[in-house]
Amino acid sequence: MSRCRLGVNIDHVATIRNARGGDHPDPVRAATLAAEAGADGITAHLREDRRHITDRDIERLMAEIDLPLNLEMAATPEMLEIALRHRPHAACIVPERREERTTEGGLDAAGQFDQLTPVVAQLHDAGVRVSLFIEPTERQVEAAVRLGAPVVEFHTGRYAHAQGEERTAELRRIADAAALAAKNGIEPHAGHGLTFDNVVPIAAIPQIAELNIGHFLIGEAIFTGLEVSVRRMRELMDAAR
Ligand code: PXP
Repeated sequence: MSRCRLGVNIDHVATIRNARGGDHPDPVRAATLAAEAGADGITAHLREDRRHITDRDIERLMAEIDLPLNLEMAATPEMLEIALRHRPHAACIVPERREERTTEGGLDAAGQFDQLTPVVAQLHDAGVRVSLFIEPTERQVEAAVRLGAPVVEFHTGRYAHAQGEERTAELRRIADAAALAAKNGIEPHAGHGLTFDNVVPIAAIPQIAELNIGHFLIGEAIFTGLEVSVRRMRELMDAAR
């Protein structure tokens, strides 16, 4: 079984920076440290309201970081223009609601098929690897297949918040959806709400090629430092395979 890649989401370094409006702590410095600690990629979500990552952060991440950048974006004309200008390694299309605290559920790729078709096509034509952040259901995976997305990222929020039997059922849903995606030639990724305590069963799903993890790693870094936090996550993911 091949190694599962770790994408470190640095949004919340920017959240802390923006609390005071200056330059510190710098998310680009966090990306450099994450790379040194074994991250395989950097993930950043440029939100419509710029509550954490800014346009300048994306420019600097593209210019200063050697790891592939996964730009999380809503399927809006503004974000599409930015993605086409920077051409990051990957773009993960996420649903975005202004009032939400975080990305609370997956994209309805089936329901928004017509709006997503040109966005996926333009990113693909520009050489950007398109990922769709969806719930782990057959309906959404089938929509991703029809949209021609090379990657899907399964929203693990429900799994992360569930306990006991409900968690086992959520894990099964993710494993089944990952198998279905892989069978259809789509690379499955996963993310949201993953921690040291819940990452192992997800990293053990053989088809899942990448996990994107942010809030927990940045929070843990307050206590142990970012390098220790990223290294520990890497160890747990490696041990799961
Ligand atoms: N993947 C996607 C597509 C996301 O939107 C997020 C949250 O921004 C994450 C992964 C990371 O989630 P968390 O910060 O809970 O680890």
